[in-house]
Amino acid sequence: MDTQQQTYALETTANTKQQESRNRLMELFKNSPLPSPDLLFNLGLYTRSSLLVKFLVMYEVYQKFLNVPGVIMEFGTWWGQNLVLLENLRSILEPFNKQRKIIGFDTYSGYPLPTDADGNSAVWQEGSYATSADYVEYLEELIKTHEAGNVLGHLQGVHQLVKGDVIQKVPEYFTQHPETIVAFAYFDMGLYEPTKVALNTIKSHMVSGSVILLDELTWPEAPGEALAFKELFRPNEYSIEKIKLYPSKTIVTMK
Ligand SMILES: C[S@@+](CC[C@H](N)C(=O)[O-])C[C@H]1O[C@@H](n2cnc3c(N)ncnc32)[C@H](O)[C@@H]1O
Repeated sequence: MDTQQQTYALETTANTKQQESRNRLMELFKNSPLPSPDLLFNLGLYTRSSLLVKFLVMYEVYQKFLNVPGVIMEFGTWWGQNLVLLENLRSILEPFNKQRKIIGFDTYSGYPLPTDADGNSAVWQEGSYATSADYVEYLEELIKTHEAGNVLGHLQGVHQLVKGDVIQKVPEYFTQHPETIVAFAYFDMGLYEPTKVALNTIKSHMVSGSVILLDELTWPEAPGEALAFKELFRPNEYSIEKIKLYPSKTIVTMK
């Protein structure tokens, strides 16, 4: 199962004891006695609270834009777990809404070089968070497979993965699809430049009630996201709240 060893630091606040318990959980997972179909149906056995909370947060946020028309976009998908989660939440919360297109942007080769506006973080190293070779094809197949098992799953095509640097790819996407309305945009790149380009590009495609989820707005280690947001949005244009269960994540709702 371990085809790729991590060569970069992940964001973590875990202390040594917690890290040891994570390593133990990993061993227990790798040596799971469950047969594969049972394992797939019992993944909760291995789901840490720090992951479960992300699912709960996404459920909370989804409900906020449920009645807003338009697409979902994630900027910085990494392995695409949120895209799968969002497809499955879409199927639970609005099973007949096949217009709720879900679009993920990432280089899939990891971080580009950060700029001076991004401060100094071990996380933003060039190439960190790279996925494996040809991962986009695997992720496309994975999302299609989830979709196929959901209501109206035979009507495929509500997903799109856009591979490349957000700085070029997001403006390109909106030039090709100027009719797009953005109901929900999730920002998780943490870097100043791509965040600013994507925020600036989507701004005129959002409507009243559209939601932006900012992952690192209050993170001193990642000042770029807050800088970009504050440069582009005036306080009278939105309401803002910290997510109850997750202090570093912030929900912005357009007025
Ligand atoms: C922290 S990870 C995202 C984690 C993911 N949202 C999740 O919750 O699992 C940040 C991602 O942003 C991507 N990224 C950073 N800068 C980018 C850029 N300029 N263009 C495209 N992707 C970028 C990286 O490749 C990385 O996969």
